[in-house]
Amino acid sequence: MMVSSLVELTVDLAALRHNYLLLRRRLSPGVKLLAVVKADAYGHGLVPAARTLAAAGAEYLGVASLEEGLALRQAGLALPILLLMGIVPPEAQAAVAADLEVVLYRQDVAQALEEAARSLGKQARAHLKVDTGMGRLGLRPPEIAPFLDSLRKSPQLEILGLISHLAMADVADKTYTRKQLQEFLALLATARGQGWELPLSHIANSAALVDLPEAHFGMVRPGISLYGSPPAPGLPWGAALQPVMSFATQVLQMKSLPPGSSISYGCTYTTRDWCVLAVLPVGYSNGYPRLLSNRGEVLIRGRRAPIRGRVCMNLTMVEVSHLPDVAPGERVTLMGADGGQRLTADELAAWAETISYDIYCSLGSANPQRFVGA
Ligand SMILES: Cc1ncc(COP(=O)(O)O)c(C=O)c1O
Repeated sequence: MMVSSLVELTVDLAALRHNYLLLRRRLSPGVKLLAVVKADAYGHGLVPAARTLAAAGAEYLGVASLEEGLALRQAGLALPILLLMGIVPPEAQAAVAADLEVVLYRQDVAQALEEAARSLGKQARAHLKVDTGMGRLGLRPPEIAPFLDSLRKSPQLEILGLISHLAMADVADKTYTRKQLQEFLALLATARGQGWELPLSHIANSAALVDLPEAHFGMVRPGISLYGSPPAPGLPWGAALQPVMSFATQVLQMKSLPPGSSISYGCTYTTRDWCVLAVLPVGYSNGYPRLLSNRGEVLIRGRRAPIRGRVCMNLTMVEVSHLPDVAPGERVTLMGADGGQRLTADELAAWAETISYDIYCSLGSANPQRFVGA
């Protein structure tokens, strides 16, 4: 028996390829591109996304965890893979055995990598993380030189470069970003002065890739732009990116409610006139944010229909009084294009007081992904 899902999360791998090629064209020859596919490729499906990006020409893949790195190796992906969150010491053996490169910021991890490399008769590879102003993972700048010094006794641990992350690359005022860049450049100069080659240093996320060529160094690390969302509003050529994920459902039930009727938990919406309502089989258990209650919109027949009342665990109601004869089974676009209209992840994110990244991860992790355009 065929079991069909009432929700449809579609990942368009042709759009992913398109976005990759668009970004690639912004890079000088020789600059590598590390495609960030962490968190199940921002909810788009780790292995299919990684395969598509590798086939398109990405030189590196970036994941969050050892588990994701191993999953890519098991799927047969042979290109360099960087574990962006680094590892803890017990993971060193598996990381080195699978030729996974590691973001490094802990002395005990450096030792574990050296020991694993020795026992396996291999070279361990790491990118040394410096916190130039993100206030997140990484060594503070004054700690870099002593850390590098301590690594001179670890001949089987190769440091490929410095890595840092930008906190404000998505805003128009680049003052803070330039300060981070200056710090990064100064550290690179010092380390090179001390004899470290550091052939592959990198700091640029999508916003810096698009907006700040001087931040490209040897490699860039885009994530969100690959998935089709402009890294910041108003950035040049953001509109040429194609959204990769779309989300749709169908009408489960139709009903007409008289004036003065309440809709959904808490009776937060009361009809003023007769209201034609479509009940949709989607809710926050599908990663559809509850904050869309009384705020969000969906597309039916290429027209917008507003959400009435609270989004429930499995159900959401939308008003279709302006659309004649909507029937059960009719297609409803929750994110994506229908007719000339489009609902973007950014639009959903604005209603839900969050960012497109969060929308993609929530929808992608809660629903089966269907891949097209391979
Ligand atoms: C270390 C690191 N590099 C690169 C990226 C990609 O950033 P973006 O998705 O904004 O391009 C991320 C994403 O969070 C990250 O954590």
